[in-house]
Amino acid sequence: MKSTNYQSIPVIAIDGPSASGKGTVAQLVAEKLGYHYLDSGALYRIVALAALAANIDWANAVELGKMVPSLNIQFEDGNIYLNGQDVSDDVRTEKMGKGASEVAVHPAVRHALVGLQHSFRKAPGLVADGRDMATVIFPDATTKIFLTATAEIRAERRYKQLMSKGIHANLADILSDLQSRDVRDQQRLVAPLQQAEDAELLETSNLSIAQAVETVLSYAEKSLNK
Ligand code: DC
Repeated sequence: MKSTNYQSIPVIAIDGPSASGKGTVAQLVAEKLGYHYLDSGALYRIVALAALAANIDWANAVELGKMVPSLNIQFEDGNIYLNGQDVSDDVRTEKMGKGASEVAVHPAVRHALVGLQHSFRKAPGLVADGRDMATVIFPDATTKIFLTATAEIRAERRYKQLMSKGIHANLADILSDLQSRDVRDQQRLVAPLQQAEDAELLETSNLSIAQAVETVLSYAEKSLNK
């Protein structure tokens, strides 16, 4: 149940496209402020992973909608657990990123994840990253940021990240995957990726992570002192 002062708990909502760096920035901002952190994309990745294990097609809205409420999802010390099993690495693959974007188009899946996302709003505050944090899940967020970078820069960042982990990658393939994910996330009918009217645009193509974190913190400070 939501406590009476639920609405007074500050939320910093950071939305943006795939590989924009919003996850890294959001986590660092949460650490700096001592806030809780919600990686909402991980929830859709878990649904994609669980569907694969249960032999449910990512396009099957009815079966997915039935499956989601039965999942036991837990976040603990930076790790992600599905039905008691650590799936932190399994959900991070490119395949699950694509699967997440596919299962996320279904209203039944999105609705089934709303309560879980709201439960992360706890004192002293929350930093939440995703696609619809400022528009749908926390429309009353204290600070709203739309964090983005050009598709080419995002593809390059993802490429370097994969290579540094020793995972072979092809830059052209990454760019075309990112672009099709952008189109699917922006054009779906429910909770599409879009900048909230009252969100600040943070274009990070020419910013370091530290600069992006500083900028988010300065917006947060401004809105918290209003
Ligand atoms: O942030 P991410 O790359 O882990 O997200 C994976 C996919 O999940 C993304 O392409 C679309 C979907 N998603 C969503 O629809 N809504 C969110 N709030 C977060 C992610």
